[in-house]
Amino acid sequence: MATHVITGAGSGIGAAVAHRLHERGDEIVLHARDAGRAKELAAAFPGAKTLVGDLSDPGKLSWALSHQSLPDRVDSLLHIAGVVDLGPVGDLTAKTWHHQLNVNLVAPAELTRLLLPQLRAAQGHVLFVNSGSGLNAHAGWAAYGASKHGLKALADALRQEEHANGVRVTSVYPGRTASPMQAKVHQQEGKEYDPEKWIAPESVATTILMALDLPKDAEVNDLTVRPGR
Ligand SMILES: NC(=O)c1ccc[n+]([C@@H]2O[C@H](COP(=O)([O-])OP(=O)(O)OC[C@H]3O[C@@H](n4cnc5c(N)ncnc54)[C@H](OP(=O)(O)O)[C@@H]3O)[C@@H](O)[C@H]2O)c1
Repeated sequence: MATHVITGAGSGIGAAVAHRLHERGDEIVLHARDAGRAKELAAAFPGAKTLVGDLSDPGKLSWALSHQSLPDRVDSLLHIAGVVDLGPVGDLTAKTWHHQLNVNLVAPAELTRLLLPQLRAAQGHVLFVNSGSGLNAHAGWAAYGASKHGLKALADALRQEEHANGVRVTSVYPGRTASPMQAKVHQQEGKEYDPEKWIAPESVATTILMALDLPKDAEVNDLTVRPGR
């Protein structure tokens, strides 16, 4: 049975992916920011294991994971957690920059480093949920866009480095998706939020599973998914 480690499984796209993998009977290890959130995830996904560590403090992840039991093999590591805080460069503080860079970029790099032996053992798959902002930066999106541009660089370098070890690497670039994050973006943009206008998290989950379920002779490098209406 395949084992998947998933970040961001408590909400939006990550929850949709976790439900799909849970329903089909795969083993899921759900990452949570703290013990309370891990308890909630364990209750929502019976039989799932959990891993605790705050992604906003990547320097502590190594210590946190060294005190928890990790799976021997990891078939996929799904980096789905993320944060956004909009604002013009003139208003973005160093704290806001650090928070987005830590959660969206440095923590995925550190978590990947810590789980690489288990990924190599399974000839596994690392999948990064990036964003349209990882390919094009727009006014008001500097910090988030920089974190996602960095995430693209991380994925592209890792893909080349791990190819010989049989580890596949995919970046998925969703457009606006109906989730609590998108509701916050609308609030910060001063716009009314209508979830019906945007991609359903389940559709992004389908895109992610498409890349994940491809046989090992093939690797999807990059997938862009945009609102269909
Ligand atoms: N929604 C969009 O329009 C959109 C578009 C393109 C790309 N994306 C990307 O898609 C991914 C998922 O976004 P979403 O829309 O599903 O967002 P979401 O509903 O806000 O979910 C974000 C998830 O990240 C977790 N998280 C945030 N900070 C964390 C921390 N410090 N430690 C551990 N976990 C943390 C949250 O944990 P809790 O559940 O504990 O809060 C939550 O589960 C993100 O990487 C986002 O950048 C989203």
